[in-house]
Amino acid sequence: MNNFQYYNPVRIVFGEGQIKQLADLVPTNARVLITYGGGSAKRTGTLDEVKATLDNSGQREIFEFGGIEPNPEFTTLMKAADMVNENNINFILAVGGGSVIDGSKFVSLVSSLQNEDGSVSRDKAWEALTSFCRNIKSAIDLGAVLTIPATGSEMNSGGVINYSERHAKLPFGNPLVYPKFSILDPTKTLTLPERQVMNGVADAFVHVMEQYLTYPVNAKVQDAFAESLLKTLITEGLAVKQNPEDLEIRKNIMWTATMALNGLIGAGVPQDWTTHMIGHELTSLHGIDHARTLTIVLPSVMRELKDSKKDKLLQYARNVWNIINDDNQLTDDEVIEIAIANTEGFFRTLELPINFDDAKLDESAIDPIINQLKEHGMVALGEHKSNDLEVSRRILQRAAASA
Ligand code: NZQ
Ligand code: ZN
Repeated sequence: MNNFQYYNPVRIVFGEGQIKQLADLVPTNARVLITYGGGSAKRTGTLDEVKATLDNSGQREIFEFGGIEPNPEFTTLMKAADMVNENNINFILAVGGGSVIDGSKFVSLVSSLQNEDGSVSRDKAWEALTSFCRNIKSAIDLGAVLTIPATGSEMNSGGVINYSERHAKLPFGNPLVYPKFSILDPTKTLTLPERQVMNGVADAFVHVMEQYLTYPVNAKVQDAFAESLLKTLITEGLAVKQNPEDLEIRKNIMWTATMALNGLIGAGVPQDWTTHMIGHELTSLHGIDHARTLTIVLPSVMRELKDSKKDKLLQYARNVWNIINDDNQLTDDEVIEIAIANTEGFFRTLELPINFDDAKLDESAIDPIINQLKEHGMVALGEHKSNDLEVSRRILQRAAASA
C-alpha cells in the first residue's frame, strides 16, 4: 500500500425526511443562497421543503439562484457568483445533483476573485479553473441536499465545469469546498427519470473502476471495499430497473455512489482517470451525458490496457464476476475478455451505450477529441502516466470499431 493522508470532514445526514435537519445545520444568522438546476427541485417540491425548513428557524435571509445546467456552465455560474457578492452571501446551499453541487463549489471558490467594481472577474475565474482552482485560499461555506446519486460530489472536494464557448470541460479540486454537510434523502431519488438513475449507477461504477483497475499494491481493504461497491452497483442497478419504487434499493444505490468517490477507496492506491478525461471531451464536443461517455470509453480502455492492468483485471474477473479458472481451462486473456463482456452486458442491460455506434458517432469524431485532449494537457494519463495521445487514439479507435 502507498503512503497516504485521508481527510474527509463532510457530515452526512442520511435518510427519509432528513431535510428538516437543515434548521440546525445552516447557521441561524446566515445569508443563504439556495442554488438549484433546471427545474426538477421546484417541480418535485424539494425546493419548497428546503425553504420552509429554513424560513421557520432563525434570522436567516434566503436568496435563490436557479438554472444551473447539467454539466454546469461557467457563464451561468459567473452570474451566481455576482449574486453572492451583491448580496453578501455567506452560505451556499446546493439543492440538486452533481452539476448543481459542482457549480456551487465553483461559485464558492471564485466569488472572491473580483474586478475593481466588485463584479467577479471572468478572466481570473477562468485562469483559476485552468489551474484546478488549487491556489484559491478562501471560499464560502456550502452545504448540499442531494437529489441524484451519481457523482459523489456531496462528499468530496472536487467538481467539473463546462465552458461551451471554449469547448472545455475541466475538473477542479480544493479542500475548502468539502461541503459542511450533505443531506441524502433516498426518497428524493424516486422522481428521477430512469435514464438518470442508470446514469448514476454507471458513473459510480466507473468511479470505482478508475481507482481499482490499475495494478495491485496489496491494499486489501481498498480492494475488497471497491469490489463490494461494484457488486452492489451491479445487483442494485439491475434491481432498480425491475423495482423502481423500492426504497431499500434506492438507499443502497445512494450510499454506494457516495462511497464510490469520497476518497476512501482511492487512498493509498494508484488511480487511472483515463476514462473520465476522454469522457469529458465527448461531453464537451457532443453533449453526451457524463455517465454515458464513460460507458462508451471504459470497455475500450480495459481492452487497450489489458496487459498493464492484467493482474487487476484477473482479480476483477474473479472477485466481482465470479469467473473462477482454478483448473486453467481458460487462458488469462479469455478470462479477461469474459469480464469485459460481462461489464458491457451490465451496461447494455441498463440501456447505456458501450461504443461509438450506440452514441451515433463514427471515426470522424476521433481527431477532434485528440485535439481537445492535447489542448487540455491530457497527454500523460493513467496510473503510469503512459497513456499519451497515441494510446488515447487507439482507445477511441476500439470504441469506434466495436459494434
Ligand atoms: O436540472 P434539473 O431540472 O434539476 O434536472 C436534473 C438534470 O436534468 C435531473 N434531476 C436531478 N435530480 C432529480 C432530477 N430529476 C428528477 N428528480 C430528481 N430528484 O437530473 C439531470 C442530471 O443532473 P446532474 O446534476 O447533471 O447529474 P449528475 O449528478 O450525474 O451530475 C453530473 C455532473 O457531475 C460531474 C459530471 O462531469 C457532470 O458535469 N461530475 C462530478 C464529479 C465530482 N464532483 O466529483 C465526479 C464525476 O465524475 C462527474 O464528472
Ligand atoms: Zn464521473
